[in-house]
Amino acid sequence: VVFVGSNHNEHFGQWLNRCNPNDDPENALVYHEVRLEQLRRAKESLEFLDPLEWWFEKHLTDRRFQFIDHDSGMVVGKYDISNHGHIGANGSRGSAKQFTKFGGYYILGHSHTPGIYKNVIQVGTSSVLRLEYNDGPSSWLNSHAIIYPNGLASLIHIIDGRWRA
Ligand SMILES: [Fe+2]
Repeated sequence: VVFVGSNHNEHFGQWLNRCNPNDDPENALVYHEVRLEQLRRAKESLEFLDPLEWWFEKHLTDRRFQFIDHDSGMVVGKYDISNHGHIGANGSRGSAKQFTKFGGYYILGHSHTPGIYKNVIQVGTSSVLRLEYNDGPSSWLNSHAIIYPNGLASLIHIIDGRWRA
């Protein structure tokens, strides 16, 4: 399993920075466990890993996973899979259309809206399709990309829990 760096992963660190464990007893143990490790590492002048990555390494018993980011350049078949799509050129906000100009082939996420734009495939979301922030008409869909042994890829849409008729 490859976890691609994204704004979603960063939410864990952002939550740590704004959480008051006194107001959030359900998650206080998680908060204190990560903070304790951060303090230990700071005291020993050790680098601290991304908090989500550290949490997974500590708690997942199946170690067959890795974290990558947009600089990793991980390619599967014809496609670079190391960009979530939230960051574009020069730190700008990313979009599938922007990635069509970079050359190469990409599979992105982030928009929750599946699409194919020239050399770029954008997957949908694995979440429920209605969250508290997406009122109104929606283009979100449960869609995944699969990469075939020949290096090409396609989108698989899951409609009403089914991926085929
Ligand atoms: Fe995202």
